[in-house]
Amino acid sequence: MQLTVVDHPLARARLSRMRDERTENASFRAALQDLTQMLVYEATRDLAVAEETIATPVTRTTGYRIAAAPLIVPVLRAGLGMADVAHRMLPESQMGFVGLARNETTFQPEAYMASLPETLVGRHVFVLDPMLATGGSLVHCCGLLTERGATEITVLCVLAAPEGLRRLEASGLPLRVFTTSVDEGLNDSAYIVPGLGDAGDRQFGAV
Ligand code: URA
Repeated sequence: MQLTVVDHPLARARLSRMRDERTENASFRAALQDLTQMLVYEATRDLAVAEETIATPVTRTTGYRIAAAPLIVPVLRAGLGMADVAHRMLPESQMGFVGLARNETTFQPEAYMASLPETLVGRHVFVLDPMLATGGSLVHCCGLLTERGATEITVLCVLAAPEGLRRLEASGLPLRVFTTSVDEGLNDSAYIVPGLGDAGDRQFGAV
């Protein structure tokens, strides 16, 4: 597993706004969108481009287009706040959706929704989930993707706990992880510390 921490003054400022408990839902969502843009920018640095000849108003020159846009997969519900901006930056991409809930008997994550292409062979997948906490849901989600043939998965998260990173690493899944901070760890309720609270509630309100 490859880990990249996107550490930048603008990222630190947006992340601090998200961490601050006084930040209202709208400002929280705006900061999450800005951070997503930074994560997508870094994670697409090596994306293959195809050359094409284009005509400017002055002359002909070489232009570039994205050769194979990744499939974007937000994990419901908190990943939804990252989806629009990722799609804006990768407008050629298809988008799938994965919804996970905890089975209250087995305590394991289960997909209540997996709207994905039948096969992901040869497709690069970008998974969006702002919080990598225990890693249980992300391992499950990425497992669904590899079952369909994905061999290249990039996880974009705003915060990562060391426990979650270790779990992803131990899973042996073909992952790259981009985050804006590796926090101290998890508390007894599996919240990231110092963290930012519940990323779904902070974006959309507690339900
Ligand atoms: N999910 C969240 O939204 N916040 C945490 O701190 C951990 C998991």
